[in-house]
Amino acid sequence: MANQLLKGKKGIIFGALDERSIAWKTALAAVAEGAEIVLTNAPIALRMGKINELAKECNAQVIAADATSDADLDALMQKSMEIFGGKFDFILHSIGMSPNVRKNIEYTATNHDNFLKTLDISALSLHRVLQAAMKADALNEWGSVLALSYIAAQRTFPGYNDMADAKAVLESIARSFGYHYGFARKVRVNTISQSPTVTTAGSGVSGFDVFYNYAEKMSPLGNASAEDCANYCIMFFSDYTRMVTMQNLFHDGGFSNTGVSNLVIEDMKNSQQ
Ligand SMILES: NC(=O)c1ccc[n+]([C@@H]2O[C@H](COP(=O)([O-])OP(=O)(O)OC[C@H]3O[C@@H](n4cnc5c(N)ncnc54)[C@H](O)[C@@H]3O)[C@@H](O)[C@H]2O)c1
Repeated sequence: MANQLLKGKKGIIFGALDERSIAWKTALAAVAEGAEIVLTNAPIALRMGKINELAKECNAQVIAADATSDADLDALMQKSMEIFGGKFDFILHSIGMSPNVRKNIEYTATNHDNFLKTLDISALSLHRVLQAAMKADALNEWGSVLALSYIAAQRTFPGYNDMADAKAVLESIARSFGYHYGFARKVRVNTISQSPTVTTAGSGVSGFDVFYNYAEKMSPLGNASAEDCANYCIMFFSDYTRMVTMQNLFHDGGFSNTGVSNLVIEDMKNSQQ
């Protein structure tokens, strides 16, 4: 279904760990649509993941950067501009990690050092990326920056733990920075709030299978897949969305506006019999 929507555009994609990653699918879709990309991930993910396979397929260079390190991000902007031969057009922030989720520490018994790490990796990193891009004047006018969020930013999903707070901050940073970057350089900043998706980060959340199935039954269109999400990202990197900024965009098959579905009611009835 490629239509060369990103012909002539260049961008950085954060967060492709393996072939299930939303960033992995987005990298493939961006290249199929004519974009030139740089791939980046944390040094440990480069050692453990399979990013070199993706890089080969995308004819892309890989640059290590910990998204919590301003020095790494400054170097990433400079190296990317060298590779691209100047400014570029889009950034995908597809980064999330909570040490509390990883260690199964409940929200009410949170470890606050871990909590700060969750916020730094999963939310403040967006601010760091935007700040590094702005400082380097790395993005062309009408450039597009996207980060991935989840509806736990607005409604409580207990297993999502401190990631819910991180997503609320992430969405707020997109609004706040979007204001400044819009006036300063006509760059747009948005978040996409994606359905539960089977990936390393997604499956790490406690009770993931249950709320994946619940969301599937609640959503009139079903859960949006990682491929669907990649296509939506492409639209937001393209010129067709040039006037959209500071938004949180639900990409969830209708889940966010559904109170209850007949499929869920049927399940409840069956469990009462
Ligand atoms: N999977 C879901 O159900 C779901 C739903 C909504 C939103 N999201 C969001 O989508 C994004 C991508 O996650 P995914 O589901 O593709 O999982 P994933 O595990 O494939 O990707 C998460 C990525 O974050 C990277 N990362 C972690 N710490 C980092 C650091 N310090 N610096 C740089 N990168 C770092 C990891 O290496 C990994 O590549 C995340 O923001 C996630 O919260 C996922």
